[in-house]
Amino acid sequence: MTKRKVGIIGAGAVGATAAYSLSMMGVCGEIVLFDIAEGVAKGKAIDIGQSVHYAPVSTIVTAAESPADVNDCDIVVITAGVPRKGDMTREDLLMINAKIMKSVVEDVMKYSPDAVIICVSNPLDVMSYVIHRMTGWERNRIIGMAGALDGARMAYQIYNKLGYGAGQTGTLVIGDHGQHMIPLPHKVQVGSVNTLELLSKEEMEEIIERTRNGGAEIVKHLGTSGYYAPGRAIAYMVEAILNDSKVVVASSVLLEGEYGYSDVSVGVPVVLGKHGAEKIIEIELDDATREKFKTSVESIREGIDILKANKFFD
Ligand code: APR
Repeated sequence: MTKRKVGIIGAGAVGATAAYSLSMMGVCGEIVLFDIAEGVAKGKAIDIGQSVHYAPVSTIVTAAESPADVNDCDIVVITAGVPRKGDMTREDLLMINAKIMKSVVEDVMKYSPDAVIICVSNPLDVMSYVIHRMTGWERNRIIGMAGALDGARMAYQIYNKLGYGAGQTGTLVIGDHGQHMIPLPHKVQVGSVNTLELLSKEEMEEIIERTRNGGAEIVKHLGTSGYYAPGRAIAYMVEAILNDSKVVVASSVLLEGEYGYSDVSVGVPVVLGKHGAEKIIEIELDDATREKFKTSVESIREGIDILKANKFFD
């Protein structure tokens, strides 16, 4: 990776925050933003480009005039999509975002054929699966950003409960990036101490519930979904890939027999390095967690089946 060039398609709240976070970290040589809404990528690229003056290392931040300008990227982050509004059903939203994904991915294949794709658009696991089907690329190059964010949200809840250990808490959330996600607070440590020694069963349950509703809680206060934590989580993953740092981060990847499933993208722990999701780690799941994982996979498959029923993949 010589250029350390990152494309961000969808320069909305999350995409722009990822760009800002990356430029403050100084890990990219160049960031190029693209958005379908006129002026959005340009305005944000100028604003972020000016903030870079005070960054530790300079980053070139530009706006793409057309998808062709998002070329030769090492990584392409896709946040393009529309939020659910008004009387839109889940099915409507799924079809709209899948169509957006299809057109975006065609451009990525054309202009950044060697990139690793980080998918952020929702419904995350289904959209990651769509990218697999559209590209046919090796599965390590398509990674859904889920566990990096949900894990940070879980760590935040653990800290809130304990009142210590900020920044010292492990993260592990598997399954879908939706209502059936599976936070595993009892599997992580604070410092080197397992949370089983620090938290009661009731406290664990509350942490699980609050992690699951982490996104909705922000919407309740802010009227819109969060973007700082998602943006920073994307930047963390981009950094790990660019630096080939081999960190373990739960992410949505295509399973080929792991955990007993195939042909579905779902959140599991993976190793992030220069080739993307270089290894899937299969952790031991107890019976109850295996059951939850099944429910989670089924909920993702429902989404995929809606696309199939609408002949999306034909
Ligand atoms: N090409 C490029 N950009 C697009 C396209 C497209 N075909 N379609 C939509 N966009 C852009 C929109 O113009 C908008 O600026 O995607 C951007 C999405 O940004 P926001 O609406 O601000 O949404 P955001 O909060 O950033 O979330 C982005 O991440 O967490 C997920 O569910 C969320 O799918 C959503 C995505």
